[in-house]
Amino acid sequence: MWKNVTAPGRDSDDPAIADIADAPAFIEAHMCLRSVPSIPEISLYTAHPGSGLWRLTGRSGEGTPPYWAYAWAGGAVLARHFLDRPENVRGRRVLDLGAGSGLVGIAAARAGAASVTAAEIDRNGIAAIRLNAAANGVALEILDRDLTRAEPPPGLDLVAVGDLFYSAALARRVTRFLDRCLTAGAEVLVGDPGRAFLPHARLQPVAEYAVPDFGDSGAALKPSTVFAYR
Ligand SMILES: C[S@@+](CC[C@H](N)C(=O)[O-])C[C@H]1O[C@@H](n2cnc3c(N)ncnc32)[C@H](O)[C@@H]1O
Repeated sequence: MWKNVTAPGRDSDDPAIADIADAPAFIEAHMCLRSVPSIPEISLYTAHPGSGLWRLTGRSGEGTPPYWAYAWAGGAVLARHFLDRPENVRGRRVLDLGAGSGLVGIAAARAGAASVTAAEIDRNGIAAIRLNAAANGVALEILDRDLTRAEPPPGLDLVAVGDLFYSAALARRVTRFLDRCLTAGAEVLVGDPGRAFLPHARLQPVAEYAVPDFGDSGAALKPSTVFAYR
């Protein structure tokens, strides 16, 4: 269960706040289930201006940013790629690292993956992944620990990384983890619109699609790339 959080200037007796006991109920009540621009096959619980997401994440600066509440360009391009070219995932055991909303894993499952594991460290994100998977009629296994500090789980064929190179420290850890995945025999695909800490020297472009990004109003699409990590 999640503790109730009161924003500055708000009354904790406000029933709209006091009723918030858990993330799944909040997401279902305050977010919109809608299709992702350029990926109409998949619908996600998506934030809108009236969602009041701060009630889940805490006051500004206190909680983890709700990255899971949006489709990011890196995940969106992988999802589009898997749906358009299902041969990349069909029959394979897939890890969606930094799953956020679960978009990449849901696309992999829809494209015929044998199994999909979604790794996410934000507990609100984990709630969103469960709801989004159910809304799209797929089953995902969820791992709620930081895999970047560990060995990859056994038996992976493909590791898909959507938009995880947005901070220097995280990029270093992810890169080391992906090296361990390669050593373990997995293929690694990275989806990214060109964030600051992308390890360009390790990446070979495979495909490009115009997709939505976090922060855009919804209609804007921009190019994003699927890379093979070598
Ligand atoms: C920028 S979002 C991308 C989400 C999704 N892949 C997409 O493209 O829409 C990054 C997500 O990775 C999660 N994350 C960050 N570090 C992580 C880690 N070490 N293990 C698992 N998830 C992580 C964050 O909580 C966040 O939900």
